[in-house]
Amino acid sequence: MSNRRLAETQPESFAFTPENEAWAKKEIAKYPEGRESSAVIALLWRAQKQNDYWLPRAAIEQVARMLDMPYIRALEVATFYTMFNLEPVGRHYVQLCGTTPCMLRGAEEIKKVCREKIGEPGHVTADGQFSWLEVECLGACCNAPMVQINDDYFEDLTPENFATLLDDLAAGRAVKTGSQTGRVGSEPQGGKLTALTTFYGVQEAVADAGSPAEAEGGAPDAAAEAEAAQEEAHIKAVLATLPKDATPEQKADAVGTRPPGLEAARDSKADNLQRVKGIGPVNERNLNALGVFHFDQIAGWSREQIRWVGAYLSFPGRIDREQWVVQADNLARGGKGWKD
Ligand code: FES
Repeated sequence: MSNRRLAETQPESFAFTPENEAWAKKEIAKYPEGRESSAVIALLWRAQKQNDYWLPRAAIEQVARMLDMPYIRALEVATFYTMFNLEPVGRHYVQLCGTTPCMLRGAEEIKKVCREKIGEPGHVTADGQFSWLEVECLGACCNAPMVQINDDYFEDLTPENFATLLDDLAAGRAVKTGSQTGRVGSEPQGGKLTALTTFYGVQEAVADAGSPAEAEGGAPDAAAEAEAAQEEAHIKAVLATLPKDATPEQKADAVGTRPPGLEAARDSKADNLQRVKGIGPVNERNLNALGVFHFDQIAGWSREQIRWVGAYLSFPGRIDREQWVVQADNLARGGKGWKD
């Protein structure tokens, strides 16, 4: 590890805000008498956040005084842990993960964008907006590559979406935290796994039973409800970033991929899509206009395609909630519909 020294230019003094002072007292009180110095990392961290994400000498001295510990001990902690910045950083402080999973998934390309747009690691741009540093794993490896900017994580980065993200931050525009490609949680990149309903006989069981629980008029599946709610919230968050006059296609393109459509129904005979609970005459017309005429087309929709259609039809999350894909698969196999 390289030597870490205090910044050459230092402020005269540092004092916690009254709110942080009160917080620090509570933090110190968590430890037994004589062990108050155990709060050193927590207090240094708070001081750093208060001071635009860097620790001046006066802050380290103040923390040492509050914990009744020698200044050199607090300085040792501050200079040992790289989470403490000893020099000013940009208003948008980018910590880029360069550890193996992120490196294998393209962190080097993200680093190039940092160099092009910000400069060398540690350099603060002339307008004070940005600085960046490579750090070790930030614990979001499943959505690699990723960066942390101030307190927020930005995942599933590509050179393009990361460059746009920096431009948006520079212009003061709202940005989306988390996955930049719309991935929900840590699901696989191509959409959530359907192994349990596709490959292990569950669909056959569903087909034998005639229709899914909800199609039979039973209670909706709680897990499907929860997933649909999560999906809906995610899509709405993406859609909220679009201009108000965005077309249905623009909205749908922002969250997913258009499913392939047919020119016309096979053998000029479209399936009665209204046998899928949730598809009424209007939705059936809209789906036909998209080239969707058959149950097997809906049954084959990927996660990205479900998102696209949901956003296009202006009801994100409903396709999951009503289990159109499971229903359509059942019908394509000759099972019963909810009205049959
Ligand atoms: S390796 Fe990058 S977050 Fe873990």
